[in-house]
Amino acid sequence: MYQYDQYDHLIVQERIAQYRDQVRRRLAGELTEEEFLPLRLQNGLYMQRHAYMLRIAVPYGLLSSKQMRMFAHIARKYDRGYGHFTTRQNIQFNWIELEQTPDILADLASVEMHANQTSGNCIRNVTSDEYAGVAADEIIDPRPYAEVLRQWSTFHPEFLALPRKFKVAINGALEDRAAIAVHDIGLTVVKNEAGEIGFKVMVGGGMGRTPILGSVIREFLPREHLLTYTEAIMRVYNQYGRRDNKYKARIKILLKALGVEEFARQVEEEWADLKGTEQTLTLEEMERLVAYFQPHAYETLPNIDVAAAHADNRAFANWLKRNVKPHKVPGYAAVVLSLKKTGVPPGDATAQQMDFMADLADRYSFSELRVTHEQNIVLADVEQSKLFALWTEIKAQGLATPNIGLLTDIICCPGGDFCSLANAKSIPIAAAIAERFDHIDYLHDIGDIELNISGCINACGHHHVGSIGVLGVDKDGSEWYQVSIGGSQGNNSAIGKIIGPSFSAQQMPEVIGRLLQVYVRERTPDERFVDTAQRLGIGPFKDFVYATPIAEAGRLVGEDEYA
Ligand code: HEM
Ligand code: SF4
Repeated sequence: MYQYDQYDHLIVQERIAQYRDQVRRRLAGELTEEEFLPLRLQNGLYMQRHAYMLRIAVPYGLLSSKQMRMFAHIARKYDRGYGHFTTRQNIQFNWIELEQTPDILADLASVEMHANQTSGNCIRNVTSDEYAGVAADEIIDPRPYAEVLRQWSTFHPEFLALPRKFKVAINGALEDRAAIAVHDIGLTVVKNEAGEIGFKVMVGGGMGRTPILGSVIREFLPREHLLTYTEAIMRVYNQYGRRDNKYKARIKILLKALGVEEFARQVEEEWADLKGTEQTLTLEEMERLVAYFQPHAYETLPNIDVAAAHADNRAFANWLKRNVKPHKVPGYAAVVLSLKKTGVPPGDATAQQMDFMADLADRYSFSELRVTHEQNIVLADVEQSKLFALWTEIKAQGLATPNIGLLTDIICCPGGDFCSLANAKSIPIAAAIAERFDHIDYLHDIGDIELNISGCINACGHHHVGSIGVLGVDKDGSEWYQVSIGGSQGNNSAIGKIIGPSFSAQQMPEVIGRLLQVYVRERTPDERFVDTAQRLGIGPFKDFVYATPIAEAGRLVGEDEYA
């Protein structure tokens, strides 16, 4: 993985020193909260419902065991013993004291981490496929390119005051596992007919209150031009993106206003001045970057039929089926540690679990871990012969729930329990649904399905692209939930469609139950929920969900007008 050089160390240290003084001045009353606000946000510190929240960047989701151990340390020393892994492959700590934040940043710097650009109108953490470097369907490893984008965008003076936050995702495999279509820029590695490596460039995707899928503005960008072309996109956005209205400030709105062709034309025009300048990646520079992401020292091993070796163990078979993924090197597998045990907020891990996961990485997976945008953790390089031993260990720590990709592998934002922007709670909705369907045979029968929950229209919980999406809405001060179906991420991305008037919190498990009943009734063999929903449209689902009232404390379904 990438390691800091002297410049990285220097800029991070300088920033901490500046920030330490800013905190001192704030505490001494020399800075008002208003003056301090932009300063703390530049360092990832938000003020939430109960306390400060610190968001720490995990570049493209890749962590060393040492870094994971530092998260455990932060959780234990400065927080309440846990942290929250997010859909942007970051981690958030929810109970932070302002006085301690400079020390936290210094602790982070000691393991080459920071919280810069995890907030504000700048280029945020560049995200990628959690199986980058090990996926069997990979064209090339996208991480060196994610890394160069990170280096280029960190403290880039021109792009620190964009019209709005800016999110870039990069995918190097045939299958998109980085949700690139819902990012401001989505890059896919492609090979052209001459066998050269480049990028397909998609722009203008995003969720929030106006969900839009990205549009391709260039089918093939030779890789050496990655930075200059990205810079050209940023310049067009920076110049013409709307600054008068926060809700219309994302690049997706500019792209729609100009039209894809005109936007692409302007980017090409801007690029004409940048192409070939010193930011063009030389072969030498690319090789230097690639060197940080060399494949590990894999043994020469045969592939093993692990399932057959433990044929009598159903629990293990379930786990193998759902939580173990193929690896491009024979004899190895990637393992997903589920942070979705029923009763635990999705994405939360305790300090003890973090230490434990770090130890696992040391013993099983070349001391590396990855954070997934579905809020789980991956050990990417486990020998197949060690899977059973690993499973036995992680079961005891609550990390072996065999539910990856199933209904209870819920994506969920912190919602009203923590977030001050929330319209409604989301964690208790996830908890109630997980509890109601906490039956492994049923979950496996339902198969692949993505249940995504956001506590407000900002869509941090990716509800627009869930097979079932749940959105918290506020109506006259009470919390309601709007449901959409048919959304999907990946190669066939789609925005879900709202089925009708919203529901109360208590009704939500039953609503999910009814949606699943329609699916089970209507599905063709091997058809996933999302395929059935897209094939049939919302009609049959809507009819059944609203056919009879879901009684609950005097309220009936369909009472409000949030359709
Ligand atoms: C302090 C807590 C948080 C605040 C204040 C916050 C704020 C926001 C806002 C305002 C947006 C809308 C951006 C726009 O449309 O311009 C947004 C989008 C988003 N946030 Fe958060 N968020 C928080 C926590 C989280 C968490 C915990 C996650 C992951 C679980 C997350 C992931 C995302 C994602 C994926 C989007 C969608 C980006 C898009 O529009 O495409 N955020 N957030
Ligand atoms: S979706 Fe809304 S409630 Fe949830 S974390 Fe984002 S801003 Fe907060």
